[in-house]
Amino acid sequence: MPSIHFINTDKTVEVPEESNILRMSLRHEGGLPNRCGGGICGTCVCKPESGVENLDKVKVQEKRKLGEEWLEKGYRLGCQTFVNEGDVAISWDDEVTKQVKRRKPDKIKREVTAR
Ligand code: FES
Repeated sequence: MPSIHFINTDKTVEVPEESNILRMSLRHEGGLPNRCGGGICGTCVCKPESGVENLDKVKVQEKRKLGEEWLEKGYRLGCQTFVNEGDVAISWDDEVTKQVKRRKPDKIKREVTAR
């Protein structure tokens, strides 16, 4: 069973494969900030500190809201990200969250090349 370690709250939970990070945070009180749950507001922005290879691919909503500037730094939206097999550790940062929430979404019409 994969696990998610929420670094900020120092909580580790075992989760089923294909689990959504935000959903698991809500269920197990991982503490990841959130608001819309739909990839729009940017509140759930987080950084996988380990286990990036165990996450599924970046979604269009993440490309819109995070843009290359945050994706390149490794950030993801917890509400759009799923854990495959293997463990991951995520953290988040108030200042980054503030900046991402303020960021105007990019206009992306179609799915672009997978990363
Ligand atoms: S909770 Fe709004 S983008 Fe994830």
